[in-house]
Amino acid sequence: MIDLRSDTVTKPTEGMREAMACAEVGDDVYGEDPTVNRLQDMAAAMFGKKAALFVPSGTMANQLAIRLHTQPGQEVIVEGKSHIVRYEQGAAGALAGVQLHWVLGDRGLISAEQVEAAVRPKDPYTIQTALICLESTHNNGGGTIYPLATIERIRAVAVAHAIPMHLDGARLFNAIAATTLPPAAYAQHFETLSVCLSKGLGAPVGSLLMMNDLTLLDKAKRLRRMYGGSMRQSGILAAAGIYALEHHIGRLKVDHDHAKQLARALQQISTVRINPHDVDTNIVIFDVIGHRLSPSAIVAALKKEGVLINAIGGDSFRAVTHLDISSAMIQEACSIFSHTLAN
Ligand SMILES: Cc1ncc(COP(=O)(O)O)c(C=O)c1O
Repeated sequence: MIDLRSDTVTKPTEGMREAMACAEVGDDVYGEDPTVNRLQDMAAAMFGKKAALFVPSGTMANQLAIRLHTQPGQEVIVEGKSHIVRYEQGAAGALAGVQLHWVLGDRGLISAEQVEAAVRPKDPYTIQTALICLESTHNNGGGTIYPLATIERIRAVAVAHAIPMHLDGARLFNAIAATTLPPAAYAQHFETLSVCLSKGLGAPVGSLLMMNDLTLLDKAKRLRRMYGGSMRQSGILAAAGIYALEHHIGRLKVDHDHAKQLARALQQISTVRINPHDVDTNIVIFDVIGHRLSPSAIVAALKKEGVLINAIGGDSFRAVTHLDISSAMIQEACSIFSHTLAN
């Protein structure tokens, strides 16, 4: 089966499993797991931040950040199709007591002008803006990379209004691999940022929340405990993360090339609408128009032929390339798409 549903479906490689099996461990609630400490130090140094906190998921990292920067009754500016809006089960409202102020982006990217317009006036009766969240790469936008210049302009708005910024960098490593910009070039503009080890990097579990403010780190540790995310001998998981950081960042470019190849093949099919130039990284979003089958029947037909993808609403579909997808699998997927999607 060629599983293009998500880059979260990867299984740990032999080398990664070996690193996990050999990991030195301790009780991380006591701060005594040397492998967790090493992963956190490595990540913080890589992103030019003072501290990193290992957490079980990207959702937890985002939700800790929202809770850290806000008070109940405040508002967070966030893109309308972001993971925080769509897939975190209303956690920002349920756990932090905040309201999300959606701004609709272009392929998931919002502009400084949109952010400026969304910041609430500081008067005694309007809800107060406490945080600006960006997502890069943007999942629903199609793996879109925020241009650094856009982030800088949004940052200027945030600084002018004294509003902190959080980056949902679940797939920031894809942006880093694609642009070859140093990780700190992105990280410097955010009070907190999260990255996932369990997406393109291929680790089974884990995300990191990074920051400069050590008071925030203390608070984040307490909240992680409150949210049930404190772990014990989690060095076994952190070892997979270290292995991923050491071995799997450079190869993300292969996934990006595969995604482009897939997009170019899809463009040749008469029922498919896609612009391969829109494929920045490893996510391919395309529409199928006027096909005799419904979207769910298209997914089922592709599955029967050996390819898994997701229908993501309306006429749209998403295919994601990753570590467990070889060039031969991409070639085969292209031919399956061309005979299954042709009307
Ligand atoms: C952009 C983005 N942020 C956050 C997450 C959450 O990660 P997790 O599934 O580890 O909670 C995802 C997961 O797909 C994501 O795509």
